[in-house]
Amino acid sequence: MRLLIMGPPGAGKGTQAKFIAEHFKIPAISTGDIFRANVSQGTPLGIEAKKYMDAGEYVPDEVTNLMVRSRIDEPDAVAGFLLDGYPRTSQQVEELDGMIKFTGHSLDAVVVLTVDQDEIVGRLIQRAEAEGRADDTEDVIRRRQEVYAEETEPLIELYRGRGLLVEVDGLGEVDAVTQRIFDALDVVPES
Ligand code: AP5
Repeated sequence: MRLLIMGPPGAGKGTQAKFIAEHFKIPAISTGDIFRANVSQGTPLGIEAKKYMDAGEYVPDEVTNLMVRSRIDEPDAVAGFLLDGYPRTSQQVEELDGMIKFTGHSLDAVVVLTVDQDEIVGRLIQRAEAEGRADDTEDVIRRRQEVYAEETEPLIELYRGRGLLVEVDGLGEVDAVTQRIFDALDVVPES
């Protein structure tokens, strides 16, 4: 399976990506996690990405696209993958289309987690207290939401137009959301 998971900051993409990946035996590839790993290792990519992440802005497309391209070329992603947090701009969609076409496959589905704005802010503030993620401050959360609304939300309609959209209610217990996603994806035919 070649899947995407989308949704606003705090929708539960990372939480659910792990379960979906286990279920379909594919790697979950999170651009946010890869950037954070590079930031904590102090790599040149991490130093570059941190400037944008700390401000709630997107890392430039050229940097992000190259990183995803090299990750999905790895052997564990040959039979499929779940991308969490990519693509987020129309330029990234174009780039991903090219990457997938090159493999002779196509995307199977795009899971979109729908959530209520107040619930999300509550989740991120709770996470800020528990984990202290650098971009979980009130101002940066607000900016991440704005950037999502401007750059990424419109992509949902694009994937709807392609007939790939699987919209799932992201509210409720984590297990209940996971079950809804499985129920929706288990009927999607693999390309
Ligand atoms: P990224 O790490 O992807 O951040 P995000 O999109 O803001 O998403 P989050 O990780 O905050 O939320 P999530 O939807 O994954 O929810 P989670 O499962 O964690 O990206 C970070 C930054 O990297 C970006 O701002 C950007 O700078 C850069 N970046 C990444 N990709 C990029 C790209 N393609 N292009 C350019 N730049 C890029 O859950 C959130 C919290 O809620 C957790 O505490 C969790 O435990 C809790 N929770 C989850 N589900 C539930 C539930 N059902 N009920 C209650 N609590 C729940």
